[in-house]
Formats: sequence, C-alpha cells, structure tokens
Amino acid sequence: MKDSVWLVTGAGSGVGRTLAVALASSGAEVILAARTRQALEDTAAWCGERALVAEVDLADPSSVDSLAAVVRQRLAGRPLAGILHAAGVMLWDSAATPSGWSRVPLVNAVSPWRLTLALEPSLLAAPGARVLFVAGAAFTLNGVRPHLEYWKGAQNGKGMTLALEAAAAKVLMVRSLHRRWLGRASAFAFHPGFVKSSLADGLPLPLSFLGCVAQPFLSARCANGEFLALDAGAGVLSGQMVQNRRAVPNCPFPPDQAAETAWLNELETLL
Ligand SMILES: NC(=O)c1ccc[n+]([C@@H]2O[C@H](COP(=O)([O-])OP(=O)(O)OC[C@H]3O[C@@H](n4cnc5c(N)ncnc54)[C@H](OP(=O)(O)O)[C@@H]3O)[C@@H](O)[C@H]2O)c1
Repeated sequence: MKDSVWLVTGAGSGVGRTLAVALASSGAEVILAARTRQALEDTAAWCGERALVAEVDLADPSSVDSLAAVVRQRLAGRPLAGILHAAGVMLWDSAATPSGWSRVPLVNAVSPWRLTLALEPSLLAAPGARVLFVAGAAFTLNGVRPHLEYWKGAQNGKGMTLALEAAAAKVLMVRSLHRRWLGRASAFAFHPGFVKSSLADGLPLPLSFLGCVAQPFLSARCANGEFLALDAGAGVLSGQMVQNRRAVPNCPFPPDQAAETAWLNELETLL
C-alpha cells in the first residue's frame, strides 16, 4: 500500500470512511469523494495530511467527469492503485418521483461504472490495480436481474428493488472488467456485513430489526469486510465475488458472456 494512490467514494461515512482510514493507515495516499465536504474533512483528519478531499455528486454525470479530472490532476502521471466504490443510497419514500428513484442505480452502479472507465488508463498503469465495489448480500441472490426500464425511470422501480439490482449490476461489472482487463488489473464485489451507518439506520423497521438481531453474529464478518481491501489474500481472489473473505462460487447469473455484454452495452447508453 505504501505510496500507492487510492480513490474512495462514499468516504464521508460508513463503509467508505472505515476503508479509507484503513487504506491510509497502511501508507496509501487517499482521495476522498462524496457530496458533503465537512464529512470528508473529518475523514481526512483521520487519514493524514496527504489525503485529498474531492466533492462529487454521483447523480450528476458531469460531476463524475470532474472528479475523474481531479484524480488525474492529483496523480500527475502516477498510476492509480485502486478505486473503492463505497458510495451508495437507498430510498424508501414511496412518494419519491421517478427521477428521485433513478438516483439509486445512478449513484450505486451507473456512475461507478463511468468513473472506472474514465480512470482506466491510470489503473492499468499500476501493477496489480484493484477496483472494489461494495455490494451487499443481494448479489448472492439468484434471479435478481437489473431491469434497465426501471433504471431509465420509464417504470417506477422501488427503492429496495433498485438497490438489489444495483448490487447485482456490480457483479456484472466485475465480471466484465475481469474479461476486459485479462489480469492486468482486478475487480471485486464484496459484502461488508451489517455495518451501522446512516444508510443502515434508514432501513425500514423489520429490516433494521433483523440487522440488529444479526449484528452480534455479523460483527466479526464486518471486521473482515473492513480488512478485505488490505488483505493479501484478496489478490488471490482476483476477479471473483468475495463474501466474508471467501470467493463465492455460486454466481447469481449463469456465466452468459453474450447476455452480460449486451446488458453492459445498453447500460453504456445511460452514461
Ligand atoms: N451498512 C451496511 O450494513 C451495508 C451492508 C451491505 C452493503 N452496504 C452498501 O455499502 C455502501 C455504503 O453504505 P454505508 O452503509 O456506508 O452508507 P452511508 O454511511 O450512508 O455512506 C454512504 C456514502 O455515500 C455518499 N453518497 C451518497 N449519495 C451520494 C452521491 N449522490 N454522490 C456521491 N456520494 C454520495 C455519502 O456521502 P454524502 O451524502 O455526503 O454524499 C456517504 O459518504 C452502499 O452501497 C450500501 O448499499 C452497506
């Protein structure tokens, strides 16, 4: 990690903040991105003086492109060792507008994809670069397929569905990046366990109750999730889904390369 440069989105709180501090404490220079400057400054205070704060709204494609430019400027020709995509939203308000709902896939999946492609040359210049998508248990569910008609706002896909689909989309992205990079860099989707955060606090009562009941059993796994980005073993798991530090062999989709490529091509029309 020493002297490597990492971009962490969602670094102002929760999973992103935890992982950013862990990366920095192992010697990485971190670029901390989210919307709220004060929260990022607070994370930066834990990360040391080399941490850079970069405001971004992942719901706005032009803001995503500006972030990529800021990262390139900071790198000044150096390679980018990795991106940790930890920004995420979940909406529960049934009164939200379709354009409100469409923020979920945009922030959770479409913009991370856009950002990864924009920074791809800097990633491929680094030996063994890694891109990590914080997904969730959802990505292990069979049969969750992202419906782009919801994502485009043409139909009103609701919060949980959209968030599940975004997690599933991250698996498609990981597979696609794995095929695209052919070992020159690697990608992971992982489940951090149940982490107490503003997002988790906003869960509807039955889900948060389940989370609280499960917490004592999951806390060790959360620690593992936090540790994952630093774990030498993670390199061995290159390009595979990771859950609780183990590669998960049962993919939620049959490995249908043609269908996945078609889906991602359609996704790129949203970029
Ligand atoms: N907590 C869990 O138990 C758990 C379990 C499984 C998966 N996950 C996943 O982990 C990810 C992070 O969740 P968390 O629990 O750490 O939640 P969190 O504490 O609410 O953190 C979310 C982060 O994303 C940022 N963000 C939200 N909207 C954004 C936008 N439009 N542009 C840029 N940044 C934005 C937030 O900062 P700003 O609001 O300042 O922008 C914040 O830093 C999510 O994708 C979530 O689904 C969490």
